[in-house]
Order: sequence, then C-alpha cells, then structure tokens
Amino acid sequence: MTTPLKTNRYPIWDERTRANPHPMYAQMRAEAPIYEGTGLGGYNTFWFLTRYDDVQTALKHPKLGRDIRANLPEVHVRRYFPNPPDPRFAALDRHLLNQDPPNHTRLRALVHKAFTPRAIAALQPRIEAIADALLDEMAQEETAELIEQFSYPLPITVIAEMLGVPSSDRAMFRKWTRDLLNGDSLEEAAESTMAFVLYMNALIEARRNDPQDDILTGLVHAAEGDDTLDHMELLAMIFLLLVAGHETTVNLISNGVLTLLKHPDQLAKLRADMRLMPSAVEEILRYEGPVEIPMLRWAFEDVEIGGVTIPQGDVVVPCLMAANRDPAVFANPDTFDITRQPNPHIAFGFGIHYCLGAPLARLEGTIALTRLLARFDKLALAANPDTLAWNDSTLIHGLAELPVRLR
Ligand code: HEM
Repeated sequence: MTTPLKTNRYPIWDERTRANPHPMYAQMRAEAPIYEGTGLGGYNTFWFLTRYDDVQTALKHPKLGRDIRANLPEVHVRRYFPNPPDPRFAALDRHLLNQDPPNHTRLRALVHKAFTPRAIAALQPRIEAIADALLDEMAQEETAELIEQFSYPLPITVIAEMLGVPSSDRAMFRKWTRDLLNGDSLEEAAESTMAFVLYMNALIEARRNDPQDDILTGLVHAAEGDDTLDHMELLAMIFLLLVAGHETTVNLISNGVLTLLKHPDQLAKLRADMRLMPSAVEEILRYEGPVEIPMLRWAFEDVEIGGVTIPQGDVVVPCLMAANRDPAVFANPDTFDITRQPNPHIAFGFGIHYCLGAPLARLEGTIALTRLLARFDKLALAANPDTLAWNDSTLIHGLAELPVRLR
C-alpha cells in the first residue's frame, strides 16, 4: 500500500503562481504564518515561514542548516534521499550554500576578500564600459529583447572576468547552469555537470602553469597549499560563483525595468533625479526581488520558531519574498516607493549565508539601470505586462523574456 500524498492548502508549487506570488504569501502570512505543508509532490513536511521576524530567526538559527548527512540520523536522510547519492553530481556539490560551520566559515574566508565593497568599487569603470558596449549594440534597432541583449550578458561578463573564465564561452555556461538548475532531465543535468567539470579542469591546469590576476588563480593556489581547499571544493566554488554571479542579477535588472515601466510616476521621479537610483535599486530588491525562496533548511534538532516547535528532520522554508512585504516591518508593503526609508529588506538573505555578492549586485544594478534609462528616454514595454512569461522556479523570480521599445 502506498502512502497517499499530502496536498498544500496554498498553490505554493504551482507554476501559475510564479508570475505573482505576492497575494498567496499575504494570505499565508495572515492565516497561517508558520504553515505546515509539504514539499513538491506532497512528500515530507515543509514549514513555510512568511513573517519577516520568523524568516530572520530561521536564517540565523544554528540548528537549522544544510548538510543533512552530517547532522541528522540516517532515518531522516532516507526520507529526503531514498537512493544513495548519484556520484555524477558529487563534483559540484560541496559549495558554500551546501555547507554549515566550520566548513562554511573556511570556504567563505577564501573568497570574501574579492567581494568586499572596496574591491567591488574598483570595478565600476569596467562594468560601465561593458554596459555601454551592450547598449551601443542594442541601439541599432527600434526594439530589443532586454534579457538576451542586456540583463543576461552584463553580469555574466563581469563575473566571468573576475573569475578568469573566458566570457566568450558564456553560451555554454548558460546551457550547463540551466540544465542543472531546472533539472528537467536527470541525464541532461549529469551531462552538463561532466561538461563543466572537464572544462574547469582544463582551466585550472592552465592557471597552475600560468598564474593570472584573477579569483581562479587565487583558489588554485589555496588548493595547492596546505589542506585549505580540495579539488572538489574548488570546482564547486567556481560553479557557485559563476551561477550566483549572474542568474540573480539578470533578474534585478529585468524585474527592475518591468517594475519601473509599470509605475510611471516612480519612473518619472527617478528620471528627474537619478541620484535616487541606489534607493530605487533597494526598493526593487524588496518589491520584486530575484530570490523567492532561498535554500531549504533542515531542523537538526527540535527547533522553536514563533512559538511553534519544528520537529527534528523537518524542512524549514524561509520565504524571502513574503518577508519583504510583511506589513509589520514595511508600511504599505504593496506600494512601490523608490524613496522608501528605512528599507531593511532581506532580498540578499540573512545570517551566515548572506549574499557574498551583494555589493557587486548593487553596483551592477545601479549602473545597468542608470545607463539604460539615460540612453533611452522613451523606453517602453513592447508587450502587455500581464502576459509576460515568468520562469518556473521557486528559487529565482524572473521573467523568461522582456521585449521593449527603445524609441
Ligand atoms: C541581485 C542579485 C543577487 C541576489 C538577490 C542574491 C541573493 C542571494 C541570497 C538570498 C543568498 C542566500 C541564500 C540562502 O541563504 O539560502 C545569496 C547567497 C550567495 N550569493 Fe547572492 N545574490 C545576488 C547576486 C550575487 C552575485 C553577483 C554574486 C557574485 C558572486 C553572488 C554570490 C553569492 C554567494 C557565493 C552566496 C552564498 C554565500 C554563502 O553561502 O555564504 N550573489 N545570494
């Protein structure tokens, strides 16, 4: 006899929710702020948190973590992973987002210097030059597909240059990362993992013989020294930086353009005083941020959140997008206000996994939107905003396409 699958009271995993998840989260926050639901397909118990305070509490809780095999008895591991780990995916598994302290602390220390606000500020002229070159290209036509022509190539070019990975190979990274993130077919995902590993192994070998001034060379050195980084960790780190470095920022830019074009009063205010751009970027992150639900956390022991005991072995889902519209923290949370002060959104997460790339993402978003608006004063949508397709992912909140008129 098979156990009947449980269903959720809210359409959390329904792909039709992705275009506008906000009303669902508002309802959950009002009716069941710590909602005991299930994972995709009705398996296991997932606790969905939609209040700002509870999401923060979860993200900083030392007993909610990522490495299930190291921290939970086998009986729980088998609930989530009934089969032994597939060795084909092991090579890219041991990255920052999958680790807890002390491993996480050690790995993060290896890369944090390259991403401090000071190190990132030095990249400003280069990011502006990349943005302007893309806009020059785009300006040849009356219309553009903004994601393909601007929001996607900008951050991938920047992160590829920082890492020391040829940005001309970005079409391949796109295929590999999409296969891995969207996981439509296990075979495709495994092939893309192997392709990535072979590609990176060749590049690592090249840096070993011919060091450059890039993050990859620094990591290759760390891997060669004492035991600060092993080869699998090195591969996983590069993979994470490459993916996290562009799959999110593309949506800060595109969600930002869409939101501004849907709010002409706010756009006019911004155009009248472009010094408001950093504050507008913060409001875009809060109002239509690129991450809906971050990584799931497992309860390594019974944990109390907001007066509810989450049993050991259950999953906790801190819904960032819901927290960012919690009326207990943000006045008129559904109003898009580019001058909102204060704006303590948690679009970059919270706690030990707080986004390493936040200073870079902020700078890229500010430059991208500033240069785009300055270049095209009649920028407009070339499609009905209500019919635009959104990606079917609960992790990344972003459009599949964004057609615009430039003149
Ligand atoms: C607007 C753009 C971005 C957003 C909204 C964003 C959001 C996030 C969030 C929410 C997390 C935490 C996930 C969790 O706790 O489960 C995170 C972690 C991370 N982000 Fe970003 N990110 C952005 C851009 C970037 C960029 C440009 C980089 C560049 C490398 C980057 C690198 C990382 C890394 C390495 C982590 C893992 C940190 C750790 O585990 O300690 N992100 N990001």
